Amino acid sequence: MTDQPKQGLARGLTNYGDRDFSIYLRRSFASSMGYSQEVLKKPIVGIANSFSGFNSCHRHFPELLEAVKRGVLLGGGLPVEFPTISLGEVYLSPTSLKFRNLMSMDTEEMIRAQPMDAVVLMGGCDKTVPAQLMGAASADLPAVQLVAGPMMTSRHGEERLGACTDCRRFWGKYRANEVSAQEINQIEGRLATTAGTCAVMGTASTMACIAETLGMSLPGTAAIPAVHADRLRAGEASGLAAARMISNPIRPSQIITAKSVENAMRVLLALGGSTNAVIHLTAVAGRLGIPVSLERLNALSDTTPVLVNLKPAGSDYMEDFFHAGGMGAVLRELKPLLHLDTISVTGETLGDRLEVDPGYVDHRIISRASEPLEPQGGLVALFGNLAPRGAILKRAAADKNLFEKEGRAVVFNSLEDLANRVDDPDLEITADDFMVLQNAGPKSASGMPEAGYLPIPRKLSETGVKDMVRISDARMSGTAFGTIVLHIAPESAAGGPLALVRTGDRIRLSVEEKRIELLVDDAELERRRAAWQPGIVPPEERRGYDRLYATEVLQADEGCDFGFLQPVVGHAGSAKEAEK
Ligand code: FES
Repeated sequence: MTDQPKQGLARGLTNYGDRDFSIYLRRSFASSMGYSQEVLKKPIVGIANSFSGFNSCHRHFPELLEAVKRGVLLGGGLPVEFPTISLGEVYLSPTSLKFRNLMSMDTEEMIRAQPMDAVVLMGGCDKTVPAQLMGAASADLPAVQLVAGPMMTSRHGEERLGACTDCRRFWGKYRANEVSAQEINQIEGRLATTAGTCAVMGTASTMACIAETLGMSLPGTAAIPAVHADRLRAGEASGLAAARMISNPIRPSQIITAKSVENAMRVLLALGGSTNAVIHLTAVAGRLGIPVSLERLNALSDTTPVLVNLKPAGSDYMEDFFHAGGMGAVLRELKPLLHLDTISVTGETLGDRLEVDPGYVDHRIISRASEPLEPQGGLVALFGNLAPRGAILKRAAADKNLFEKEGRAVVFNSLEDLANRVDDPDLEITADDFMVLQNAGPKSASGMPEAGYLPIPRKLSETGVKDMVRISDARMSGTAFGTIVLHIAPESAAGGPLALVRTGDRIRLSVEEKRIELLVDDAELERRRAAWQPGIVPPEERRGYDRLYATEVLQADEGCDFGFLQPVVGHAGSAKEAEK
């Protein structure tokens, strides 16, 4: 028995001190599920299924799962579904990012611990795809990412609606008394009306495009709407591709390389994609020891045009992007800027993929590189004494009139402080001031929520103010817009200079110079630093995952991963161990 190939059920045996007994026992339990002896000899494709009643974006996964299984069977494998944690963006407290690393650990360890020869990763909602890519990169078993696909738009009167840029737009109108309580309630039922991820180029769609660019998803699959029949065909094809990878193994470490990560950064910039994707791509690459620097992001941003006219930076929706040509069209426009010798899960190089006739491309939605929407990338990193390790601004979705500006800081020292005072009629603030939020970074009690899109104080929004400079160590939803400086590192809860800002200080923003400076002299800053108190519950007084998170989470410029999940130098640390 011991000479049988170590694939399928024979992989990574439970250790009873008797290998033959281990496989005998496993087969007898697997037989209880009605499998024949013939089927149990097949190689196994695991299907990591992040379906959950708390994840409306994944509500079509039961049907998609059947398509994946069909594909695996076509490829001669045995499909075995297993559940993992799911992260439904709007259902998690304090914020989904806090659980991304937990999901990545769940995914990695279940890939490694269970007997499978390849895996299909079914994810979609914002944090699920990065979590699965992080886990798969660490496990390093052949893996295919299959995303949920975006939801379809809906209608309100003559307007198209799609989660969730329009959620924020209409909520802003409601706060400005431009929309009644009755109408905002009507709109609530029209913003998200089908299965799938947010309908714009938010975090979920950006990560889907990044997964395809890295080569971890099948070509052409990122933008297929969730409810389109092509999504089911993509599921079948993903299952088939995973089964084929068993005889021709291509590991994530061969696909996610310094070159494919750089391609993904180019794509992120050309999409005017989500700021969150910078953190996620850094974390995914970090699992394979590939550094992503904000300085490099800036260098690429200077030479990468914005090509895609989708909300929140533009006007259209993901279903339009799909019909306009999707990622294939974007990659063709970017071709001279890309590394073409990267490979995908199919084994095909990017260069070979782009040789194929692109078919119809709607250049109203995907611009030609020769006529870009913007000559430079959608994101820019800022540095200065307020952000020594960097901050991010989504310039594609910001008001250019605010790019070169000095303003007076109005400081909120926590999310509670913001909630309590932002609509106070006595708040001293003008549209020229800079709103500053402290203690919203990864180590803070709030765990780096998407709170960087600080609401415009009601007294200003009622007078028609739509945008102001807002600065924090928080994140921002990929569907949001505004002149918003995010991800300041180091964060205030870790003693970064953001903690030292006081109301009335002057701050200078220069997007052209890529600088953000606190105009307070060093001696005064030192005085403030000496008096500074962390203001958070120390990790040793917390318990469980909250303690692990507070102790181990890295700063935004390092991807907010846990340090101990990054590779140990000189140790393979992969699913190869399970094959021993
Ligand atoms: Fe799931 Fe937006 S809430 S993708």
